[in-house]
Amino acid sequence: MEMKSARMTFTLFCALKLTFGNLCRIASSSKEVVDYAVQNAHETFISGVWSRKSAHDRSILLSRLARSLETHMSDFVYLESLQTGRAIREMTAQVGRLPEWLDYYAALLRTRQDFLAPTRGKLLNYVTRIPLGVIAQITPFNHPLLIAVKKIAPALAAGNSVVIKPSELAPISVLEFAQLASDAGLPDGVLSVLPGYGHTTGTALCSNSMVSKVDITAGTKTGRELGSVVSSNLAYYTAELGGKAPIIVFDDANLEIAVNGTAFAAFIASGQTCVTGARIIVHDKIYDKFLSALLEKTKSINRRIGNPLNPKSTMGSVISSRHLQRISDMVKRSSGTILFGGEQMHGLSPLDNFDLSKGSFFAPTIISDIETTDELWQEEVFGPVIVVKKFSSEEEAIKLANDSKYGLGAGIWTSDLSRAHRVAEEIEAGLVWVNTHHRNDPSSPWGGMKQSGMGRENGLEAYESYTQSKSIIVNIASNEESRAAGDWFAEEPSSKRYG
Ligand SMILES: *[C@@H]1O[C@H](CO)[C@@H](O)[C@H](O)[C@H]1NC(C)=O
Ligand SMILES: *[C@@H]1O[C@H](CO)[C@@H](O)[C@H](O)[C@H]1NC(C)=O
Repeated sequence: MEMKSARMTFTLFCALKLTFGNLCRIASSSKEVVDYAVQNAHETFISGVWSRKSAHDRSILLSRLARSLETHMSDFVYLESLQTGRAIREMTAQVGRLPEWLDYYAALLRTRQDFLAPTRGKLLNYVTRIPLGVIAQITPFNHPLLIAVKKIAPALAAGNSVVIKPSELAPISVLEFAQLASDAGLPDGVLSVLPGYGHTTGTALCSNSMVSKVDITAGTKTGRELGSVVSSNLAYYTAELGGKAPIIVFDDANLEIAVNGTAFAAFIASGQTCVTGARIIVHDKIYDKFLSALLEKTKSINRRIGNPLNPKSTMGSVISSRHLQRISDMVKRSSGTILFGGEQMHGLSPLDNFDLSKGSFFAPTIISDIETTDELWQEEVFGPVIVVKKFSSEEEAIKLANDSKYGLGAGIWTSDLSRAHRVAEEIEAGLVWVNTHHRNDPSSPWGGMKQSGMGRENGLEAYESYTQSKSIIVNIASNEESRAAGDWFAEEPSSKRYG
């Protein structure tokens, strides 16, 4: 591997093969490469080529990168679908919005203000925010470019140097994005992409003592393990971890909209998102009606699963055959009743004759009659598998929703305004959607409570978490006033304090 620059570029599009499982081969970064990249990022930070650029200049570059991403949008959408197996209709919608993150932080750089602290005495105390230094980011396979851009945009806006390790299962779009950033004029060494495995490359990156902050999106187990490594270096830590989002459907919800909304919450990304609506909690008065409508909706999704690159295909594969096996095993261990799905899909798609056996397609799955002690209620599946449960009172619904070690996303479906707010307040989750799901915006904080993580992505909060405050205190007293204030080491001690 050439080590002239830590930025690695791949001329890829020619190498792509239209088969799943064998798209291309990418080198895994060794510890030596990681250490080199971090050292390089550190030297770049110290040099000031990016960290000391004016906020305006950084803003201009982020906007330019946003425009460039728009220009190359169809390539990125295609690539994202190809490397994840997710339906291209999803990637068109998702990747299409990513320029907004770059534009948001470009705009923030032009509008945010530092402040004056209202200190006592003749002092001018101004507080600015400065970048942290080298940032390590670990991103997952499910939304490869979305999560990377969500983390890269605020980190770069703040003036840091970023070293990012994308998932070993889907690193291509992040590598291509770094090339785009370089072409837009981002200096070498400011954004480095290190493909590799979590337990080797990821661990080497997060434990490097030159790293000032680690920001990961991963499972809770990984998040906890890395947390202790990060804290021993006294580095900052943001972790977006697992979830098991409850969806509460009240009897006053619009049934059709709630059913379709629940299917959207549950099955988009084939359930491979940390806010997937996974525990469907339905009022007993509408339970039967809701369930039969949800079943119909699920069947209609299932019938139209085809080639992920077909815009009409409704749902993609899961990321790998190993992942599919894990989902399948969890379903088999459950004591619940499988109402639909529950297994891998095989044969030709009724939609487009695509051979589903070629990929890891798991059917959208609904399971009922489940205890809250069941693994499928407690643990994240990261697949298109939902469990449904009845409730009879608002209190019981909240109790069921909160009955989880996770607290990331949650959904409430109701037409009663007061109830919506009341229940939203009681649910232990960082994100609560009312009559909708999966809404994400650069201005909207994103992150979890309980075992779902710490810190928030998006918004001013993310920008601030990529900076530290610097308080500069200037004595503006005249010499006469300073003299009148007295000498601390005078013969007679004074109880007077400065200020
Ligand atoms: C809900 O889904 C059904 C079946 O796919 C569809 O016919 C209907 O128009 C959808 N309703 C809404 C409100 O989107
Ligand atoms: C949520 O429900 C759990 C379980 O019943 C309970 O322990 C917790 O206090 C509830 N939290 C709120 C904010 O209501």
